[in-house]
Amino acid sequence: MTEQTRPLDVLILAAGQGTRMKSALPKVLHPVAGRPMVAWAVKAAQELGARKVVVVTGHGAEKVEAALQQPGVAFARQQQQLGTGDAFLSGASALTEGGADILVLYGDTPLLRVETLRDLVASHRERGSAMTVLTGELPDATGYGRIVRGEGGEVERIVEQKDATDAEKAIGEFNSGVYVFDEQAPELAKKIGNDNKAGEYYLTDLLGLYHAQGDHVRAFKLSDPNEVLGANDRVGLTELEGIVQRRIIEGHLRSGVSISLPHTVLIEDTVQIGRDVTIEPGVLLRGQTVIAEGATIGAYSVLTDSVVHEGAVIKAHSVLEQAEVGAGSDVGPFARLRPGSVLGEGVHIGNFVETKNARLAAGVKAGHLAYLGDVEIGEETNVGAGTIVANFDGINKHQSKVGAGVFIGSNTTLIAPRVVGDAAFIAGGSAIHDDIPEGAMAVARGKQRNVEGWARRYWAAPERREKLEKKLPWLAGWMKRQ
Ligand code: UD1
Ligand code: CA
Repeated sequence: MTEQTRPLDVLILAAGQGTRMKSALPKVLHPVAGRPMVAWAVKAAQELGARKVVVVTGHGAEKVEAALQQPGVAFARQQQQLGTGDAFLSGASALTEGGADILVLYGDTPLLRVETLRDLVASHRERGSAMTVLTGELPDATGYGRIVRGEGGEVERIVEQKDATDAEKAIGEFNSGVYVFDEQAPELAKKIGNDNKAGEYYLTDLLGLYHAQGDHVRAFKLSDPNEVLGANDRVGLTELEGIVQRRIIEGHLRSGVSISLPHTVLIEDTVQIGRDVTIEPGVLLRGQTVIAEGATIGAYSVLTDSVVHEGAVIKAHSVLEQAEVGAGSDVGPFARLRPGSVLGEGVHIGNFVETKNARLAAGVKAGHLAYLGDVEIGEETNVGAGTIVANFDGINKHQSKVGAGVFIGSNTTLIAPRVVGDAAFIAGGSAIHDDIPEGAMAVARGKQRNVEGWARRYWAAPERREKLEKKLPWLAGWMKRQ
């Protein structure tokens, strides 16, 4: 088998507790850029083309396994957290096929780049190593296992903080905990003991076992040690988040997106953004959101799992969830598009308009203060200010359909389920409780009655005189002229 075609299995160690998170959620499920930390490792493994991905679970195993359920990902339970060597053995028991190189990752280092891992595996194979350790260099590597280099730069030993001499503690090169092993590792790991200060089974002991049979152990050094930064508490988590956000945002900036105040926006790594999109300050873009070329996302808007087509403008303080906005449309400020809102091209949605499960065809205008729920509206229809589709009867939701070219007067209530024909007119203030045929005009409100002289009689009442004279001087003058 050639170096390129040899399979790669990936073990992700994620059984540790992480008490310092002070959380009911297992540590590795705390999200960074919208994705649980351990899911970053799974994603990297899949992007590397892993033959098999095994996640070693222990603390919070049920939750971790439930969060990662997907084809191609297997789980191995580590019954007791006896150390990384024991975790490796647990995971290796799920690798039944053999004949692969084995990459070990941790569930709490989400910043590792796939390119780095690809280079690591390539270096391991090209140099014919039995074990390759991914290392980094820090001025002070306190806490980490240190790399003791030997002849020809090969790794002679890895010494844990607890077991290190003062001279070893001064070493800046540290063990990231990421390794590539050849296919012998599962068998060799059975020989790991726990005779050390911590009484743990150290995965790093594999190094000595390889040396004992004359195999080569080499290091692959990271140029940026931040890539293996983990999070032990929520302070650490925000650091990771900051680094990931800078990476994501830099990527968008370099591919032609304008983001005027990058440190105020949050963009999850699942979001896709086209060229010449403008993102104003305070914007949150989450989930499977897609923003096409030339669109603008206004200040303090929050978009989740939504699609914004070419050149559309979302104005400030709008909230979109599972919504689709057609090309050239404009939405907001202060609009709320709830799940199932689909706007065609050139739709205008103004302030304080809420839509839900609503299909608005091209050119529909709803400029002010409306609720459009469970309704389909034809092209060019004008929805007046204050229009309400009363879709709920207290028990069930009902679906309505408004035709094209309809004029809905302000403050109309459409009592669902309703069908309004094309080109119909609805007089303002109507409560529409019957369907309207094509081309008709509907008025549905009490007939107006004017009572002459009513105001003069009202204000003439003695109990209102004091208020009139003290607080309403213009009206008091008007009364005198009557
Ligand atoms: C380990 C390395 C150390 C390295 C450091 C990098 C050993 C002996 N030491 O330190 O050289 O510098 O990682 O962070 O391996 N885990 C399990 N089951 C266990 C123990 C750990 O699944 O029984 C998992 C944890 O969830 C975590 C990872 O393994 O994802 C590392 O565990 P941790 O205790 O942080 O590593 P150390 O042993 O301190
Ligand atoms: Ca530890």
